[in-house]
Amino acid sequence: MDSNEMLNVTIDNQSVQVEPGTTILQAAKKLGIRIPTLCAYQELDHFPGACRVCVTEVDGMRSLVASCVYPVANNMVVRTNTERVRTARRMVVELLLSNHPTECNHCVRNGNCDLQKVAEITGVREVRFPYPEYQRESMIDMSSPSIVRDSRKCIQCHRCVAVCDKVQTVNVLTPSWRGSEVKVAPAFNLPLLETNCIACGQCIMVCPVGALYEKDDVDKVWKALEDPTKHVVVQEAPAIRAA
Ligand code: FES
Repeated sequence: MDSNEMLNVTIDNQSVQVEPGTTILQAAKKLGIRIPTLCAYQELDHFPGACRVCVTEVDGMRSLVASCVYPVANNMVVRTNTERVRTARRMVVELLLSNHPTECNHCVRNGNCDLQKVAEITGVREVRFPYPEYQRESMIDMSSPSIVRDSRKCIQCHRCVAVCDKVQTVNVLTPSWRGSEVKVAPAFNLPLLETNCIACGQCIMVCPVGALYEKDDVDKVWKALEDPTKHVVVQEAPAIRAA
């Protein structure tokens, strides 16, 4: 087959022709089929396929695949709304929420939060898993003159990493640590003020939740919190690193 030949793909019983390299998500969009996404961001080319909210079922494959990064093949048959897919998406969202502070009422992104939207779309109303203790000790970095980084709310979507690294080429935000402790942070968990951050604010623009926000919003948040030091460690630069 010529590498430039169009590919036939069937998604939810509808057929479409797409160019080689097209992802399932892009092909579905062509058909008007909506797949929930969280880490995928239309303006950024670099989707890490990190959140797995967009999983779909492909005929002949045992595992579900992340539609935002999975390229279609000729004659592929995809299902985006089976019971298995919906259950997997709900579990992904529930796990993300279980790791996320329940402070929506006084979060700067309340009502404009992609995690809230995806929870609504996938029908997640309750979270069965407890909020992990180590998250309570995560920090809020207020060292920058203009950007607040609340690592407790980070959902590891890596959008900020893509924009900081590939678009702005500043390379301040990066994935750090491993396993369940993985976090997006400046290298060595330095406060933003001690890094090469140019305070462009692009990371705030792409953050789907309230993990990065403008410093102007801080007063509003702090006023709403009864005791801001109860669940979080708030430190000004340069004393953020653990002793
Ligand atoms: Fe596809 Fe996050 S939107 S993995």
